[in-house]
Amino acid sequence: MAKERWGSKIGVILAVAGSAIGLGNFLRFPVQAASNGGGAFMIPYFVALFVVGLPLMWIEWTIGRFGGGFGHSTAPGMFHTLWQKNKFIKYFGVIGIFGPIVIFIYYVYIESWLLGYSVFAILGKYNSCTTEQSMSAFLQAYQGLIKNEFFSSITPAYFFFVITFILNVWIIYMGINRGIEKVCKWALGILFLFGAILVVRVLTLGAPDAAKPDFNTINGLGFLWNPDWSVLKSAKVWLAATGQIFFTLSCGIGVILTYASYLTKQDDVALSGLSAASANEFAEVILGGSIVIPAAYAFFGPAGAAKIASGGAFNLGFVTMPLVCQKIAFGNIFAFLWFMLLFLAGITSSISLAQPAIAFLEDEFNFSKKKASWVFGVVVFILCQPAIFLLSKGVVDELDFWGGTVCLVLFATVESILFAWVFGMEKAWTELHVGSDITIPRVYRFIIKYITPAFLLFVLGMWFWQDWAKVILMRNVPAENRPYVLATRIGLVIFVGILALLVQRAWQRRERKQKEGVSPDAF
Ligand code: PFF
Repeated sequence: MAKERWGSKIGVILAVAGSAIGLGNFLRFPVQAASNGGGAFMIPYFVALFVVGLPLMWIEWTIGRFGGGFGHSTAPGMFHTLWQKNKFIKYFGVIGIFGPIVIFIYYVYIESWLLGYSVFAILGKYNSCTTEQSMSAFLQAYQGLIKNEFFSSITPAYFFFVITFILNVWIIYMGINRGIEKVCKWALGILFLFGAILVVRVLTLGAPDAAKPDFNTINGLGFLWNPDWSVLKSAKVWLAATGQIFFTLSCGIGVILTYASYLTKQDDVALSGLSAASANEFAEVILGGSIVIPAAYAFFGPAGAAKIASGGAFNLGFVTMPLVCQKIAFGNIFAFLWFMLLFLAGITSSISLAQPAIAFLEDEFNFSKKKASWVFGVVVFILCQPAIFLLSKGVVDELDFWGGTVCLVLFATVESILFAWVFGMEKAWTELHVGSDITIPRVYRFIIKYITPAFLLFVLGMWFWQDWAKVILMRNVPAENRPYVLATRIGLVIFVGILALLVQRAWQRRERKQKEGVSPDAF
């Protein structure tokens, strides 16, 4: 089977930017920033961007293109290529398929709420909810957690979920060039347009309540941007900032490795990686930072904005924003732009989470795109059910913790060491610059070799030291949720085990074919 390729350079940059720009930029970032003191957050955030975010972008683009050259589009094969003597490393690469599926399971469900809310905004379905309580009740009834005059069952949510799920699988089925690339080009264009309209609307809100002139958008921006140096001493803020950088850049999980594997040997990775990261940072700090926080600040003041953020990302996105929109002219249209923007941001991320699994089936088992999409669709659809029906039992938090936090840091740590120390910095630096449109400043040679792995080991070590007992014993989980959380953990372990067995099978198949002197792809 001929390997799929990206259609253009801008296409692959937009696809990676599409993966990076997601719900994390518009919901997770404002919550993290506001709950970590606003301006205090931005210093560790930018340090983490420069010492781990950008280096990982370059590391993943380079390993991805390199592995793609050997016919591998996923981490097991790529890690094996980098360290052929080690028999175990390919099993570690399983995280690069497992992690994305785990995130996909809950991400797609949340993405589907956005499609539902886009429709509700236009239809004015929640127009009678004018307080925080009533808007929260609307959301809870939609999620099937309570019944009220708006929803008496989870059926509408399930309906939007099925549509969103099918849409994701269909884009994947259309392929790298005709599916992912095309959708990302369109979606990102619309997303930036909607984002710009919303930013202008928010920034021209001024001080909506004449009696409280301090509650205005300029002070809202100051809340985010006035630096607070004292925070450099707080470990918690550093961890939060590093976690956000990983999540927002889609780094440390195998997704960028897969996308980069569809490049050719001479395609640039240095400038492309930098461009995708810059597009993401623009969407995050400029657009993401100029919508919800200044809007919440203008209507509810500094204490109100911090309190809303402490209620979490769903609260900010599905309760505060529609309430704010209710208070302005043409509010339903602005609310539609908001939910549609988030839906587009979400879908360009979720398709990237699905691609490693599809690529694994195609490369290692020679499945056709159609067969791989069917298998993925059926298996993952079933796996999504606990996230939908056990939403209030802590299952989504558990998936987010293992898939969206632990796997990212663990995978990134091993990957950066493999790149700089096993593959070797000399070769790595040369490979990074093959076909490159820019020369990366030499200080990054030092950063990639020493600072990035050391920083990651430090974060991982600190987390383990502080939290391992609490996590293992589920001390932070309410007692009534523990059976569900435990079941989720057991399920995840079984799932990793199955994927590891598949890797073993794939390698046996490869070796057999090699012994017979036939290319494994001929079958
Ligand atoms: N970067 C996405 C966001 O900010 O919402 C989330 C994400 C997508 C994380 C893909 C990881 C990933 F592989």
